[in-house]
Amino acid sequence: MAADPSAAAGQSSEDEAAAFFRSAPPLRDRDRVAGELSEFVTRHSAATGRGGGGLAGVVCITSGGTTVPLEQRCVRYIDNFSSGQRGAASTEYFLKAGYAVIFIYRRGSKQPYCRFLPEDSFLDFFELGEESEIKVPDSHAMVVKTAISNYRKAIDEGLLLKLPFTTIFEYLQLLQMASTAMNCLGHHGMFYLAAAVSDFYVPWESMAKHKIESASGPLNMQLNQVPKMLFILRKRWAPSSFCVSFKLETDPDILLQKAEVALRKYGMNVVVANELANYKDVVVMVTGNGRTTVVRRPSKEDDVEEQLIHLLVKMHSEHIVQLNQHHHAL
Ligand code: PMT
Repeated sequence: MAADPSAAAGQSSEDEAAAFFRSAPPLRDRDRVAGELSEFVTRHSAATGRGGGGLAGVVCITSGGTTVPLEQRCVRYIDNFSSGQRGAASTEYFLKAGYAVIFIYRRGSKQPYCRFLPEDSFLDFFELGEESEIKVPDSHAMVVKTAISNYRKAIDEGLLLKLPFTTIFEYLQLLQMASTAMNCLGHHGMFYLAAAVSDFYVPWESMAKHKIESASGPLNMQLNQVPKMLFILRKRWAPSSFCVSFKLETDPDILLQKAEVALRKYGMNVVVANELANYKDVVVMVTGNGRTTVVRRPSKEDDVEEQLIHLLVKMHSEHIVQLNQHHHAL
């Protein structure tokens, strides 16, 4: 019998992923994070459709760029472009739509409800009053008040779990832990993978321990390919989940074609295609049978994420209904 080439490719992706995790430095607070994930998912699994509660679902949002350290005691690293704006805005809209959110974000990147605050928010937004009193000027009072109250509501109701990463090693371990924890949610779980993930890395065991010497002249370095984890997420970690990944390109001529390949190759439900030149203004949702839906932001005051999340939530709930009908029919 002829060997199935796709099965062989799948096996080699799994072997590469296993090798990546074996050699990665273990997450420092792994046990605490695992406990938080398990508690969060268990609590919300009872409240999703299956348990009869009011929750629309649980979504894992990844946001910001991963770094690739060049030294174990890291002074230099390679970074990926992403401010975290997309992930932070999307978190707000998913919470508004009734989802619980696991927000896996790059340390120091944009945060939900803080997007409108300036970089030096304390210095620019607050004024000193009498003695130790600190006031928000009237011009900004509404923005700050709404941000604090929405954020507090999400935290107090236990709907937002925030998990930070910096390196590709931390990111992929967190994604694996979140996905395996969310597997029990079945099709009520969603992944929204907006993080910009490194494609190349230096394996930990072959990485210089100390700062690389500059006195020895030009630096030659070979980078290994990061295994594509979307494939493993879909196949092993959370196979019944609803998966949305992103495709960023700078060349508009290849963007949609690349998104379609990703949709098929990794079995995604939706690939959101965006072009670096206008990614804040327009995205294209690519779904099965080559269908595309263009989503534009209506004005500079709006977020393109508002309409995008609206459409994704609708697709996810239709997907749940369809699968439930299918299960009942069996
Ligand atoms: O944060 P902002 O400034 O608002 O910018 C948002 C964004 C432009 C970063 C975002 O909209 C976006 O496009 N994110 C994905 C960018 C990207 O890294 O694309 P990619 O073609 O390299 O990866 C495609 C998908 O594969 C991603 O969903 C990624 O999570 C996944 N991936 C990538 C590499 C890898 N080794 N394994 C993966 O699973």
